Amino acid sequence: ASEQTFIMIKPDGVQRGLIGEVISRFEKKGFYLKGLKLQNVEKSFAEQHYADLSSKPFFAGLVEYIVSGPVVAMVWEGKSVVSTGRKIIGATNPLASEPGTIRGDFAVDIGRNVIHGSDSVESARKEIALWFPEGIAEWRSSQH
Ligand code: CMP
Repeated sequence: ASEQTFIMIKPDGVQRGLIGEVISRFEKKGFYLKGLKLQNVEKSFAEQHYADLSSKPFFAGLVEYIVSGPVVAMVWEGKSVVSTGRKIIGATNPLASEPGTIRGDFAVDIGRNVIHGSDSVESARKEIALWFPEGIAEWRSSQH
């Protein structure tokens, strides 16, 4: 079924000029871009986004990294976009990501893994509400 996911290009991805590459892969697959913004986030906001990881030893470093430069926050829509989006992204640890995935092609460090994608429809719903409280664009159904 058609669903939405939250995708974020992290500061390393932005700084390395990978915005177009990431967008291109999702577009060419056949997904629809529904929301997009480049922004700097506050520490408290990054902590909220990663609240589930607050007990992890890498939490402080992760938050520091996310606030280190602008990120690109996006909402993508399409058939099974949550799980398929994660396949496009590749495994969390870039050394375990298959070549052909974004992390497999562009990263070597788990702490600098270019991109984030929601891990379930439920987290996607929460993350979209957090990042896009103003709402997102409507496409006319004839444009899908
Ligand atoms: P992401 O998909 O954004 O979800 C949680 C993030 O935590 C993950 O990508 C990594 O950037 C980060 N992360 C997970 N495990 C580690 C780790 N062992 N060391 C540093 N960062 C990690």
